[in-house]
Amino acid sequence: MGRPKISIVGAGNVGATVAHWAAAKELGDIVLVDVIEGLPQGKALDLWESAPVEGFHLKIVGSNGYAETEGSDIVVITAGVARKPGMSREDLVQTNQKIVTEVVDQVASRSPQSILIMVTNPLDTMAYLAKRVSGFPKNRVLGQAGVLDTARFRSFIAQELNVSVENVQAFVLGGHGDEMVPLVRYTTVSGIPITELLPPERITALVERTRKGGGEIVSLLKTGSAYYAPGAAVAQMIEAILKDKKLILPCSCYLEGEYGLRDIYFGVPAKLGSGGVEEVIQVRLTEEEKAALNRSADLIRETMSALQF
Ligand code: 2OP
Repeated sequence: MGRPKISIVGAGNVGATVAHWAAAKELGDIVLVDVIEGLPQGKALDLWESAPVEGFHLKIVGSNGYAETEGSDIVVITAGVARKPGMSREDLVQTNQKIVTEVVDQVASRSPQSILIMVTNPLDTMAYLAKRVSGFPKNRVLGQAGVLDTARFRSFIAQELNVSVENVQAFVLGGHGDEMVPLVRYTTVSGIPITELLPPERITALVERTRKGGGEIVSLLKTGSAYYAPGAAVAQMIEAILKDKKLILPCSCYLEGEYGLRDIYFGVPAKLGSGGVEEVIQVRLTEEEKAALNRSADLIRETMSALQF
């Protein structure tokens, strides 16, 4: 039996970091694709040359075309323009619609059975676009956002309480924008509700920092956006799917009535296994939480309305 094949389109910081984490976890053979001549080849070769040191056994290739992606099990799409300081994710919609449409066309025809993991921003809108362009069923097109947003929330909580990140369980739902919804009621530290451990004003501050977590990195880096944590988040999703782990992770999924929402990609808890999104997990929400999710959905719909068909 051959190794699974993972194609990553976009060999910028996020794409290359996905490749790095995926190689380190030995998840499958990797194809790195980018339009810039030499870039995917150079990064793939460099990563491959680390194999003897790290001891992973994979094929890693870079290409400026799509032929090598044929028969992929998973295709990660990071291609697109990243935010500059002061830009919202929504500003990116039109430029990235063009790029994502072309990429999805190319990969879907060569890997018709693959699972697409979208990373390009504005995330939920680009995932919606990818489903429409590929014609794939909803379980095989999903977006990475919630794992990253939740990881940020967990890391801030762990730091605040000086406890292991492993002890912190949380769920950040909704769109990958400043209206995302960290669900405080479902946030625990080793099973203890966070409300027992931190005063409300500190929780509010951590929630706010999480919401603006992407922007915090952009304003520090000045020339780009985050990639270590986004890359790790994608690698965890790939692993859950390829190893059929049935891992429940917050992902951007196509909704058909769940959480009262329809015909939208939205961050919800999803069970990831070999079928991709095998189930959207519905948790009970308070009226306040529902209202927050609805505000987040409204924002996505506004961005989606900038898509041009
Ligand atoms: C982030 O949240 C860029 O959306 C990405 O870091």
